[in-house]
Amino acid sequence: NKDYCVVILGSTGVGKSALVKRWVRGNFRDKYVPTMEDTYHQVRSGNRGTGTLHITDTAGGHRYPGLQRLAIARGHAFILVYSVTKKQTLEELKPFYELIREIKGRNLRKYPIVLVGNKCDDSRRRELTARDGAAYAMEWNCAFLETSAKKDVNVQELFHMLLNHAKKP
Ligand code: GTP
Ligand code: MG
Repeated sequence: NKDYCVVILGSTGVGKSALVKRWVRGNFRDKYVPTMEDTYHQVRSGNRGTGTLHITDTAGGHRYPGLQRLAIARGHAFILVYSVTKKQTLEELKPFYELIREIKGRNLRKYPIVLVGNKCDDSRRRELTARDGAAYAMEWNCAFLETSAKKDVNVQELFHMLLNHAKKP
């Protein structure tokens, strides 16, 4: 199977869509538009042919729990996003992590997860330090990055990190 699905989860307004758009389209908008669910498709080539990368940008919070479960079931890699400007959004990732663990069960280790603290450009509103994020990443045994979709900080690194785990087709 040459399909690879990356799923982005987290509270509303943390910048999930902004991160995906920065990666896929290379741009950023200040205007907030709530997401229901969007999937982006990219064709990737490697030594053994081509494959398709699917990036599923989910709705924040738990507005569509059915869609989230389905996305997690299909997912091969996960990006858990919080905002460094809103303390509760880090705690709010716990149920998403638990849900991934529940759905993937014994195979959890096969699925890379990256914890992301977005909006690191907004130092005036910062409520969480990099240490706060790193502590969760340690507990969940996953990678951790602080990003800014707005200023294009660590967005390339984030996707490269996940896709290097994904075998080239
Ligand atoms: P839902 O679709 O409701 O789940 O929200 P979301 O997580 O997709 O958030 P979205 O990407 O729509 O961004 C929410 C707001 O935060 C928008 O007004 C963005 O412009 C802003 N935003 C996103 N990323 C950044 C960032 O890195 N820095 C700053 N300062 N603002 C950001
Ligand atoms: Mg969105």
